[in-house]
Amino acid sequence: GNKKPWGGRFSKQSAAWIDSFGASISFDQEMAHEDLEGSLAHAQMLKKTGIISPADAEQIIAGLKEIEHDLKAGKVTFDVQLEDIHMNIETLLTQKIGPVAGKLHTARSRNDQVATDLHLYLKHRLPEINAALLELQEVLVQKAQQHVTTIMPGYTHLQHAQPISYAHYLLAYYQMFSRDRERFEFNLQHTDINPLGAAALAGTTFPIERAYTSKLLGFSKTYSNSLDAVSDRDFVLEFLNNASILMVHLSRFCEEIILWCSYEFGYLELDDSFSTGSSIMPQKKNPDMAELIRGKSGRIFGHLLGLLTTMKGLPLAYNKDLQEDKEGVFDTVKTIIPTLKIFTGMLKTLKVNTAKMEQATTHDLSNATEFADYLASKGLPFREAHRVVGELVLKCIAEKRNLQDLTPAEMQAVSPLIANDIYAKLTSKEAVARRNSFGGTGFSQIKKQLAQARAELASN
Ligand code: ARG
Repeated sequence: GNKKPWGGRFSKQSAAWIDSFGASISFDQEMAHEDLEGSLAHAQMLKKTGIISPADAEQIIAGLKEIEHDLKAGKVTFDVQLEDIHMNIETLLTQKIGPVAGKLHTARSRNDQVATDLHLYLKHRLPEINAALLELQEVLVQKAQQHVTTIMPGYTHLQHAQPISYAHYLLAYYQMFSRDRERFEFNLQHTDINPLGAAALAGTTFPIERAYTSKLLGFSKTYSNSLDAVSDRDFVLEFLNNASILMVHLSRFCEEIILWCSYEFGYLELDDSFSTGSSIMPQKKNPDMAELIRGKSGRIFGHLLGLLTTMKGLPLAYNKDLQEDKEGVFDTVKTIIPTLKIFTGMLKTLKVNTAKMEQATTHDLSNATEFADYLASKGLPFREAHRVVGELVLKCIAEKRNLQDLTPAEMQAVSPLIANDIYAKLTSKEAVARRNSFGGTGFSQIKKQLAQARAELASN
């Protein structure tokens, strides 16, 4: 015989090493609370509908509550021979209340149970992630507020392009994190659906009330199709995708922090509390936290690609492959929440070398577009203006000078349209201040962005 909860049709016992390969308890114990929550709702529904007697239901409910209590007190140990969290809890219940515990699994399967647990797990954590994102956005807005008039080089191809405000740069990330929050909010809609009652795949002959367990568990919807309910992991894929995009944003931000903390840039300095030293080089101050965040993006992308691959060939409905859905989710949650907190703290304490940033825009040629725009606004076709300024740029490079250092005569030699009012236009501060097209880096536009961001944060 076979002593497994499903052992009736087996004449042999499987070997321990085979059981342990198939077991998920080492990781799905992460959902112990959610499993108990789902079982409690199921037991209450079985009672309400009269599928089991009130006395039996009460025993089951009391037993589950005791297990919950034991769990919180750290008094529960799990057994790998019992495969997963579902069988472990059922066995604990049996130890507490005897064979009546076996009635809990009426009109239920582990397939809808595990799906319910995972939905609940993620539903509980998505708001935590968005709260951490909001905190980060608060810091971004505070920093941007302080740096509206801090001028820095704007880059394309990592080459000086046009000067921008550092606040404009920060608010670009603000926008990305707003979209991240929206994605997680949308993700919550697909997570907030109850699969319980789908049973193994086809529903059940018992008169269950799925709407009732949905209500008890706080789900706003109930899966309409039992096959879909037990096979759907879209909400998990969406989560891993959203987390991956978030990590892309954080990683790009970190990359800039790392670069800008280098001697060559010198725009930023990390607070000592978010930096590390070298075991050999006494002078070192390394941006380890930023590098680690950049590095952690890899594991999150891996979880996404891993689950996509696991899912792609699965016939309906449940397949054991789906057991592979959980570790990536748990790891992602446990990675992105501390990552967001560390990043927020790092940003908050980051020192900005405004002089170095600005200096990088006053000894370069990134005012060339200003010059061309100046000529274009005097009627010269922009394409020609571009060529004329290009010639001046070439001259400056050859003579190691900057556009604003050219004399009026040198300028007029290439175009008679150039007058003395050009010099005021060539300062980087002016270049930033005047870019007030909608969404531009001009100070009045940044103030609008800030006001909008503040309103958005206040409404959350
Ligand atoms: N441990 C399983 C999982 O993580 C639970 C569902 C098992 N169901 C089954 N029919 N084997 O997916």
